[in-house]
Amino acid sequence: MSLTGLFLITFLIVHCYINAQIFWNDGGKSFDELAHFMGTNVVIRTIEIGLFAFLILHIVQGLMLWAKNRAKRSSKYAVKAGNVNSKWYSRSMGLLGTLILIFLVVHIGMFWAPNRTAQTFGDGELPLYDMMRDEFQHPGIVALYLFGCISLAWHLLHGFYSAFQTLGLAMHKYKMMIKNIGIGFSIIVPLIFALMPIAFYFGWIQ
Ligand code: HEM
Repeated sequence: MSLTGLFLITFLIVHCYINAQIFWNDGGKSFDELAHFMGTNVVIRTIEIGLFAFLILHIVQGLMLWAKNRAKRSSKYAVKAGNVNSKWYSRSMGLLGTLILIFLVVHIGMFWAPNRTAQTFGDGELPLYDMMRDEFQHPGIVALYLFGCISLAWHLLHGFYSAFQTLGLAMHKYKMMIKNIGIGFSIIVPLIFALMPIAFYFGWIQ
């Protein structure tokens, strides 16, 4: 889970950087250039296959871990210690992961699937920037994206540090540093993502 999780974290950085080009407010010029490169480059398209494979693997591993933990605990806890032993988000990784999955299915169906279909069977790439601007005029879709970003933030809040800990990389000396970077990452990246639908909705970017 750590390795697939770290790969997905790397994807999030790249995805966030590319999408953040919309904030130049240049009518999508910078964004479209990078999106075009990512959508047509052979190396990137090959990595994309790995991305989906890792995403599915991460979900399967998560489900297996959840089932294992459940089976081990034959009876429910007599006392629910709440936040004393563990944080809410670390006990709810399965729920948060499922919420992200629902968001992802809608998200991929909205942009990625139609774009790849048009590239493969149609007239070529779709105008992704214009599609985003149109989609984010609907308050329901903006709300769904915000909900996805909040779930992602909670999921990362536990997952980021956990990945380093499992790999044995959170040695005592670096423990606090990794924890703090994890908290910063878990807030900043979903926040930048969340600002995208918000900025389009309020017309901050055209
Ligand atoms: C909230 C703002 C976001 C916007 C505006 C956005 C936009 C997009 C667009 C336009 C694509 C299609 C790219 C293409 O066809 O080449 C895409 C693909 C994708 N997005 Fe997002 N995204 C956002 C957030 C997220 C988040 C938070 C995640 C993960 C939790 C995510 C995961 C993905 C995945 C897995 C793909 C398909 C893989 C790929 O393009 O290589 N996105 N996104």
